[in-house]
Amino acid sequence: MTSLTDRRILLGVAGGIAAYKTADLVRRLRERGAEIRVVMTPGAQEFVSPLTFQALSGKPVHTDLLDTAAEAAMGHIELAKWAQLLLIAPVSANLLAKLAIGFADNLLTTLCLASEAPLVLAPAMNQAMWQHAATQANVQTLQQRGAQILGPASGSQACGDVGPGRMLEPNLLIERIATLFTPQTEVGQLTGKHIAITAGPTREPLDPVRYLSNYSSGKMGFALAAAAHHAGAEVTLIAGPVDLPTPRGVKRIDVLNALEMHAAAKQAADHCDLFIAAAAVADFRPQQISSQKIKKSEGNIEGTLRLIKNPDIVAAIAKRNHKRPFTVGFAAETEKLIKHAREKLSRKKLDMIIANDISDPDNGFNSDYNQVVVIDHEGEYSMSAALKSELAAALLEKIVARAFK
Ligand code: PMT
Repeated sequence: MTSLTDRRILLGVAGGIAAYKTADLVRRLRERGAEIRVVMTPGAQEFVSPLTFQALSGKPVHTDLLDTAAEAAMGHIELAKWAQLLLIAPVSANLLAKLAIGFADNLLTTLCLASEAPLVLAPAMNQAMWQHAATQANVQTLQQRGAQILGPASGSQACGDVGPGRMLEPNLLIERIATLFTPQTEVGQLTGKHIAITAGPTREPLDPVRYLSNYSSGKMGFALAAAAHHAGAEVTLIAGPVDLPTPRGVKRIDVLNALEMHAAAKQAADHCDLFIAAAAVADFRPQQISSQKIKKSEGNIEGTLRLIKNPDIVAAIAKRNHKRPFTVGFAAETEKLIKHAREKLSRKKLDMIIANDISDPDNGFNSDYNQVVVIDHEGEYSMSAALKSELAAALLEKIVARAFK
């Protein structure tokens, strides 16, 4: 469990029924050692009284931009500078719109403009409001500016609707916030190192229009590539067919099927210090690829599809006697996570394996989130569920600590 001891969090509360959950969030954040200052919008005060937050945070609650007494104690600019993280939970559709435009019409919106701390937003609103094109455009604008959006979760809502719009539960929010404070691999730390990463699915053709594949989006591998480049490494990203932009500064090699990925990986591994296999490679491919579209009338569709085994790319690299980089695999498992991952670690002769818990459909394949346990021959380290972009930096730090110790 990551400690939040002495972390300074400025917690904004907007109007919404979810504000009652924020009271519990404050209590739990303080239990984890964080220092909390609460800022409430006028709307939030209609749902929960400032006194509640004052009692739970142990500090005066800030509500008014033009409050001379509050300004005398800790002025709004001072408050903005004090914060190491600006968390708004819940954030309403109205507040998202104001933040996207850059309004400074109350204390909270003003603090958002004045603070250089990372902005984390936990939306809560009616499902139709969340899914409205205007709200989605505002979310995108804020994300492009670097804001982290945590949630919302789906489920039944106070208004009776069912759908996305529920604020994430406090314990889940805290786990995700904690990862934001995880120290990351420093810029320049990997200068001179070459890292090769596989990402995405492979596509094994049956005929000119059909193929076997899986739901991998490539997000995990691409996030690792971006983190490795950020830390100064030379990065080769071997990407299956995915719809993602190339991370800045990364050399990308596009491949379609397992054989192409194998060929590209072999070459990259000759020159790299660290090889990370985040791809979901198809274990088998059709024995024959029909040059013409297979016709239903030929009776082939109900017949047996003959498959042959694809080469195990990461195992081939890990089993090398020379030009062998530190080799890390992934194992996405729906059950017996550690047992299955350990079996792959030893069978493939890897140095490390990232056990990927995909029992929760919110994590893993084609999701923005992931939850992993890092396993090597010395032990295990559990990491909380987090956005792949955040997880990648923390994960890379764990890998690098072993690979280049
Ligand atoms: O792409 P995303 O949507 O972001 O999702 C990320 C992910 C869930 C795909 C990723 O985090 C992940 O877990 N990848 C491994 C998926 C998996 O279960 O692979 P596997 O158990 O089939 O293989 C284990 C390891 O061997 C993996 O490192 C894999 O890349 C590698 N392998 C497998 C088969 C093969 N022929 N060659 C390989 O190199």
